[in-house]
Amino acid sequence: MRRIPLLLFLLLTSEKDFANALRSGKYCFQGCELSINYVSFNDTGPASKKAASCLSGLRTRSLYLCVDEYCSAGGRDEWLRGANETCQRIANTSMLPYDIIAEYGPDERNAIKRLSTDEAFVYPVLGNVVLPDQAFFERAFKTLDAAFYEYEIHLVYGWAMYYFWAIVISIGIGSRLVTLIQSIRHREWHRVPTDFDEPNQCRGGGASGGLPVLLKRYITVPATFGSRCSQPIGWCTIPPRIQSLTILAFVMLNIVLCTFDYRVTHGNLYWPRECIQLWRYVSDRTGIISLANFPIIWIFGMRNNVLMWITGWGFGTYNSFHRWVARVSTVQAVVHSVGYTVMVCERGGWSSFKKHLGKHYFWNGELATIFMCALLAFSVYGLRRSHYETFLVLHIAFSIVVLLTMYYHVEIFTDGEWNIFIYPCLAVWLLDRFLRALRILIFHLRLWDTKATATYDPSSNLVYLNVPCQKSSGKPQPGTYYYIYMLDNLLYAHQNHPFTLAYVANDKIQEAEDTGHLFPRDPSPRRTSSPDSIESDSLLSSSAPSNTCPSMVFLVRPYDGFTSRLAQKASSGPAVTRVFIEGPYGHTAPLRDYANVLFVVGGTGIAVPLSHLAHLLDDGSAVTNLHIIWAVREHAFLASVCESHALLRDERVYLKAHVTQDEENKDDVMDEGLKRVKVEAGRPDVHAVIEEAAVEAGHERLAVMACGPAQMADETRRACVDVLGRGFGGVEYFEESFKW
Ligand SMILES: NC(=O)c1ccc[n+]([C@@H]2O[C@H](COP(=O)([O-])OP(=O)(O)OC[C@H]3O[C@@H](n4cnc5c(N)ncnc54)[C@H](OP(=O)(O)O)[C@@H]3O)[C@@H](O)[C@H]2O)c1
Ligand SMILES: *[C@@H]1O[C@H](CO)[C@@H](O)[C@H](O)[C@H]1NC(C)=O
Ligand SMILES: *[C@@H]1O[C@H](CO)[C@@H](O)[C@H](O)[C@H]1NC(C)=O
Ligand SMILES: *[C@@H]1O[C@H](CO)[C@@H](O)[C@H](O)[C@H]1NC(C)=O
Repeated sequence: MRRIPLLLFLLLTSEKDFANALRSGKYCFQGCELSINYVSFNDTGPASKKAASCLSGLRTRSLYLCVDEYCSAGGRDEWLRGANETCQRIANTSMLPYDIIAEYGPDERNAIKRLSTDEAFVYPVLGNVVLPDQAFFERAFKTLDAAFYEYEIHLVYGWAMYYFWAIVISIGIGSRLVTLIQSIRHREWHRVPTDFDEPNQCRGGGASGGLPVLLKRYITVPATFGSRCSQPIGWCTIPPRIQSLTILAFVMLNIVLCTFDYRVTHGNLYWPRECIQLWRYVSDRTGIISLANFPIIWIFGMRNNVLMWITGWGFGTYNSFHRWVARVSTVQAVVHSVGYTVMVCERGGWSSFKKHLGKHYFWNGELATIFMCALLAFSVYGLRRSHYETFLVLHIAFSIVVLLTMYYHVEIFTDGEWNIFIYPCLAVWLLDRFLRALRILIFHLRLWDTKATATYDPSSNLVYLNVPCQKSSGKPQPGTYYYIYMLDNLLYAHQNHPFTLAYVANDKIQEAEDTGHLFPRDPSPRRTSSPDSIESDSLLSSSAPSNTCPSMVFLVRPYDGFTSRLAQKASSGPAVTRVFIEGPYGHTAPLRDYANVLFVVGGTGIAVPLSHLAHLLDDGSAVTNLHIIWAVREHAFLASVCESHALLRDERVYLKAHVTQDEENKDDVMDEGLKRVKVEAGRPDVHAVIEEAAVEAGHERLAVMACGPAQMADETRRACVDVLGRGFGGVEYFEESFKW
């Protein structure tokens, strides 16, 4: 703890010495007031100290003489007016006019007693006018000048947080615009039926060489260190390099703004000990910046975050920003609290601390810091991952406690001015909740009547969740996700989890409900009926036959909690359950603009390419080559996907499935006549796949999208960086995942 002030001392701004020059500004007048206040004069009756300072002619004369001696005239009338108004208010009396000191000629002035600091410190009672000596006045002036400078600069640095994120967001918007313009240009070129490449460009540089490729290779695509990005390292996850750099810049900014620009003055009258003075400034600075960070934490943590759709960055990106701003803010709060505790104890030891703990603002502040630390402790990756529901409940409860205690902590200062940082948090939070409710309502106006059908398929260990979608909810977009609430058990009704929309099916709802067979049509791989007879396979763009209702299909792998309850419910046949559907969230990655698209997916990650298929294959899409590499454990899952998606038969599509388990069904070769489907045993070699795709794409643009187990996504990311390094500049990496 002793180290911190020492370190900070090195960064102090130098003090300029103004000896013998007139001081200017309001702190000069107030400096005179501060020094004269050490003295009491005996020309007033038994009045209160405040009133006496207005009533005493000796004091007013002393004050005016001090101002005349040490201060330049600028701003003096304004100061006088203010002081006069104060006296009118508190003592119903006017200050004497300023020119009363004209009666003091040079000789009289020289004869006036000069008060030294030591003499002032005994709080004398005097019967004549007095002047602070030069040194005493300087100490008073510098005390005020530094204290008020700090007071103002703390807030300036607090606002700097907003400038920082405004710049980050602007860069995000800028790069999005550039991408948009590029994709429009690409699209236009595509209308011209020729290759738009230069013939000498075969490998190096690709379609967009130079800086953009270097940026992709070293900044935007790679993991921060090595290749672990989706996979945790110990107790934490490290975001992609571009995010880490942003976070690093933010942390550095906070360190800098908390460590410099402290005007510690020698002989300060408020805090004579310099280390206490520094504690005071550091504590105030960290406290204010910590508070200024609050609204940012809330904005970044919300599901309905406007910034998400302006910048196109996903929930995961803002979530890592949310976590880091919160961490920084918490460290600042701890420094703030430690600082004040040190100062209080220095003044009067333990008993003084106990006395302060009795003060409303003080114990609220201590509580706020403690709960902020608890929030941090209960948000570690391990707990988030393994006990998500517990994490969420604690997170919300503790956040409420922090907001409340913070409110009472800052309420007493400057008429609640600091609450400008508290109310936005509340507003953002309420708005988010409101928008969530609104989305649920828009999805289906008859809230109570939204029913989903869950069908469990044991052979692929998968729940197909079928939700009829109303016309009102708009056309579902590929790559979007929805939060699903299950309402059948009120105890768990508040729980909701995100699922990527897999595809839209046109099922005969009536019939399905009657027979209890909604989806999937028999998922067994031995199914014999021709796939062409399946009605529900046409995807997003298909038009619904008149007697059918389109429904959205989610693929849910039962793990624990929410998903296992769903599987249990459906274990003995298709189950109809009441749900809330909140969405859609997320945006569609611009894969349509790429001539080549490669999906690297694992397990239920297949939902992502399925949801994109129709969109990527319709008119106006630039895609000529669509590869899907799919690692899947169960043969039955593979079979059901193949037979229910006619678009997989499009000649632009090539699906390679790697069946990694399910040994006994290994020999169930596809008998569907899908020429462009290849099945292999064992995990795919992600590296080789990406390299092959890059070589095949050559100078054309290639979009690689990963959705699957963390390790798989990280390998894909890594492989993309490698091929970028080998000159395939047209490669772009996308990832679809949820990081909590
Ligand atoms: N964003 C979304 O909406 C969304 C949707 C669905 C799923 N997901 C994510 O996708 C993941 C898959 O879940 P799941 O239960 O459906 O999957 P799963 O059934 O466990 O299947 C994963 C498949 O990937 C293979 N695999 C794992 N690591 C690999 C690697 N490094 N290289 C090559 N192949 C690898 C596995 O092979 P082995 O059998 O040899 O292990 C297995 O075949 C989950 O982590 C989930 O978070 C995301
Ligand atoms: C203030 O003083 C004036 C006379 O100096 C007197 O008339 C007036 O009543 C006083 N006002 C109050 C509120 O005491
Ligand atoms: C103080 O204010 C009163 C009332 O506004 C005014 O009459 C008086 O002249 C003022 N005195 C000085 C020194 O400004
Ligand atoms: C105030 O003190 C001076 C000397 O210090 C003395 O001469 C004067 O009588 C005192 N006045 C009152 C009202 O006590």
